[in-house]
Amino acid sequence: MIGASEANTEVLADPEALSRRVATWLLELAVSKEGVFTVCLSGGSTPQGLYKRLAEAPYLDAFPWSRTHWFWGDERFVPHDDVLSNYRMARVALLSRAPVPPANIHPIPTERLTADAAASQYERELKSIYGAKRLDPAHPLFDVNFLGLGPDGHTASLFPGNAVLAERAKWVAAVIGAKPGARITLTYPTLESSRHAAFLVAGDEKRAIFRRLRYGDKSLPAARLHPIGTLWMFADAAAAG
Ligand code: 6PG
Repeated sequence: MIGASEANTEVLADPEALSRRVATWLLELAVSKEGVFTVCLSGGSTPQGLYKRLAEAPYLDAFPWSRTHWFWGDERFVPHDDVLSNYRMARVALLSRAPVPPANIHPIPTERLTADAAASQYERELKSIYGAKRLDPAHPLFDVNFLGLGPDGHTASLFPGNAVLAERAKWVAAVIGAKPGARITLTYPTLESSRHAAFLVAGDEKRAIFRRLRYGDKSLPAARLHPIGTLWMFADAAAAG
């Protein structure tokens, strides 16, 4: 396991260059692997450009859509057609614009159940797909896990000072009270169960927090994520300073 300070860090000129670079990085990983390729998506605004780019040439024709499965690292507990939904953002930007089999899309459930029930249901789905009830470092759950960086150093819905940071038994948990609305998040062990984890950071408003992440400030939840595989940080020049 490695920490933020040993990450592969790449700085791109601007958000469009960042999207192109990460789309190429993802495509190369997907085509270099046989069989099912699993991607865990982050939400928020930063990854939208990447998701849109993947649905355009040359990625649209080259990506192995039929054998790639899509998951979410966290979700706002709102209906899937709500403008705040991370699922909706990915569907609009990518999943509705590429030939993705519906069976390959695994959204976090947010309708007609409680937040706790949603977390338990997603955990059951992940375990069923993984084929075991315990995560094995030799067999990562995800091939690629995309992560965002919040201005307070959170990632997924792992917020500073929240009890979910200590959760290592559950794969998925409900986070109530950290934000105005409930969140569902994968916990550290689940987010860390990835062959490659990649932070995407853009914008000058992230400059200070990105610097703290790069130098391994352990007060940041994002800096405490130690993937079992490789850790990447892709940033634009505005965020990297
Ligand atoms: C979410 C995300 C969250 C996000 C960061 C950065 O549900 O909002 O999963 O962890 O990645 O807050 O968000 P921005 O990309 O919008 O700055």
